[in-house]
Amino acid sequence: MLSVTGSGCRSLALLESGPRRLVSVDANPVQNYVLELKAAAMRQLSLSEYLCFIGFEPGQRRDRLLVFEELREHLSPPALEFWHESLMAVRRGLLYSGAHEKFYAAWIAPLIVASRRRQLRDLHNFTQVEAQSLYFESEWLTPAWERAVRMLARPRLIRILLDDPSYFERVDKGSELADYINNGLRRTFRRHLASDVDLFGLLCTGRYWDPKNVPFYMRPANYERIKSHLDALEIVTAPLGTYLAQQEEATFGAYSLSDVTGWMPHEDLVAILREVGRTAVPGARIVYRDLFAESNIVAIERETGLFHECGLSEELTEKDRALVFTIQAFQAVAQ
Ligand SMILES: C[S@@+](CC[C@H](N)C(=O)[O-])C[C@H]1O[C@@H](n2cnc3c(N)ncnc32)[C@H](O)[C@@H]1O
Repeated sequence: MLSVTGSGCRSLALLESGPRRLVSVDANPVQNYVLELKAAAMRQLSLSEYLCFIGFEPGQRRDRLLVFEELREHLSPPALEFWHESLMAVRRGLLYSGAHEKFYAAWIAPLIVASRRRQLRDLHNFTQVEAQSLYFESEWLTPAWERAVRMLARPRLIRILLDDPSYFERVDKGSELADYINNGLRRTFRRHLASDVDLFGLLCTGRYWDPKNVPFYMRPANYERIKSHLDALEIVTAPLGTYLAQQEEATFGAYSLSDVTGWMPHEDLVAILREVGRTAVPGARIVYRDLFAESNIVAIERETGLFHECGLSEELTEKDRALVFTIQAFQAVAQ
């Protein structure tokens, strides 16, 4: 399998299916240092110890540094050097140190907690998704909410606050963005209980609500199994296209490319997907997710020879618990 590192959560989650080898690639070395540290901590710690180390529970700052001392020997020299210079982040706990986590806690959570405290509590208590969906439509997606999202979902504003130009590469209209966000929320809460949507808790309150509703790899049902597959993990720092160009044909059986599509123009995406097609075994699955604007599927099929799996893409988008993404699934065909 090949996956993009990002926060490391995706690559760790994919280990649950027990791949023989999982190569986790990111062009940004810091993302890979985060993954290295998470993997090293998982090797040494039980789930409850891991949750303390990563920062799920506030406090215990000194203990984190003591744990870090024990992890040193499991880190590569560049990762060790990086973390040595970033001990404050380790001490605070990494879980809420990411750009997104800080953005939610500083800009989104205070607004939502102030205006939606009762609804948040009610949503968390639903046990039937149908009843929850009706409640969400009438109590959350109110005209005032729609107006607020329309006012705040401005590409230029979010680009400045998140300090990242990539998110709106292909989006320019704020009103379409607001509809896209509200439709994503509607879709999610028609299918999933809010108490099982970890990103919703994080987005609305700046924290995860309970230790069972956290990213997939940290959930009690998955942690030990993922931990037992950590030897399959191989971490590579390189641009995706450069790394793939160095690999032989028919190397990978599955690709999870996250949202890299939003970070590049169409031509660059096509160049990467051509390399994906070349390095894939026939029948391999390729999945990535579009954020806010869809990639040009017709052109991608024509220019890469990959086959777009329309039904599967819709099914995965429905099942996704990340609120606002559109999943695109392709299959590699014999070249
Ligand atoms: C927004 S993050 C993913 C976040 C989220 N945790 C996930 O897994 O879906 C996207 C990641 O893609 C990486 N990335 C973007 N373009 C890339 C490229 N051409 N080659 C390798 N990594 C790339 C970025 O460095 C970043 O870590």
